[in-house]
Amino acid sequence: MNSPKKIAVTGAAGQIAYSLLWRIANGDVYGADTAIELSLLEIPEAVGATQGVAMELSDSAFPLLKNITITSDANEAFDGVNAAFLVGAKPRGKGEERAALLANNGKIFGPQGRAINDHAADDVRVLVVGNPANTNALIAASAAPDVPASRFNAMMRLDHNRAISQLADKLGRDSVDFENVVVWGNHSATQFPDITYATVGGKKVADLVDHDWYLNEFIPRVAKRGAEIIEVRGKSSAASAASSAVDHMRDWIRGTSKWSSAAIASTGAYGIPEGIIIGLPTVSRNGEWEVVEGLDISDAQRKRIDANVAELQEERAAVSDLL
Ligand code: NAD
Ligand code: LMR
Repeated sequence: MNSPKKIAVTGAAGQIAYSLLWRIANGDVYGADTAIELSLLEIPEAVGATQGVAMELSDSAFPLLKNITITSDANEAFDGVNAAFLVGAKPRGKGEERAALLANNGKIFGPQGRAINDHAADDVRVLVVGNPANTNALIAASAAPDVPASRFNAMMRLDHNRAISQLADKLGRDSVDFENVVVWGNHSATQFPDITYATVGGKKVADLVDHDWYLNEFIPRVAKRGAEIIEVRGKSSAASAASSAVDHMRDWIRGTSKWSSAAIASTGAYGIPEGIIIGLPTVSRNGEWEVVEGLDISDAQRKRIDANVAELQEERAAVSDLL
């Protein structure tokens, strides 16, 4: 067995956590040879409900789960943590855009970033799920000057998985057969699910689908899937978000040479200015995301990427007091 890892989950009494915690406790992030300690952060009013969640986790008798702490104190929650899933934030309702959540949700992430800065383990990796995820991640990272900016990610993996699932349905293929899919940008309706480089079974996906379908059905369908789920389910996505969060953190920690989409601090690749957290084509080596560099970018792609950069810069300007 490896030494135990401590994982914090915020919003532990919420609907995403109700799936996420079971996957983590099952060893799906660090693997079957690593024991897990869970640290659950909630607002004081939801600490009681979180105790109920912990009772159920306990009743599941996971062999790897060694300890659960519950607190409403961020300093305690992030003490010594190796990984943190920042989920706790309000979801949007029908007809709302995620950016509308920024005014209220943004305030949550500065104090949590500071607590991570002061108390987390040196190898801490932080995945922000709470919306609007990219800018919330920027707020958290800004409050943690002693933690490398590369350790704060926002989740684009759900968008990535949605893109692959739409392609798999369209082409009658298994999702695992798709390579080199990327979702650039913001986790918003402006995001750019891009099939330019994608292959399935060695064939170019762009040659197998109609270009009109790609532009007028695929891109908007993926980009607005969150709203579609809210419309049909009556609540925002939860189990799929949890599953994608596990995919992201597992691949980040354990590595993958397969392309993924992760929102990371811009390093200037593809002419994207630094100072925003943006979805990019990535692989993971030695516990760090690396941008897949050197791709040819057409004018049409550039326009969509630039729209995302502009939107993220606007969101950043709107929370300048929190940075
Ligand atoms: P939920 O309302 O079911 O749960 C949120 C929980 O967070 C609540 O229990 C609440 O008490 C808690 N919380 C609020 N403020 C907190 C704080 N300061 N510290 C700790 N906990 C706090 O919501 P949910 O469905 O679990 O969604 C959570 C967030 O994830 C929402 O913002 C939602 O929009 C977002 N989301 C993001 C993605 C993505 O792809 N990035 C996907 C799905 C949902
Ligand atoms: C999603 O993409 O499902 C989440 O971000 C929830 C939402 O508000 O759409």
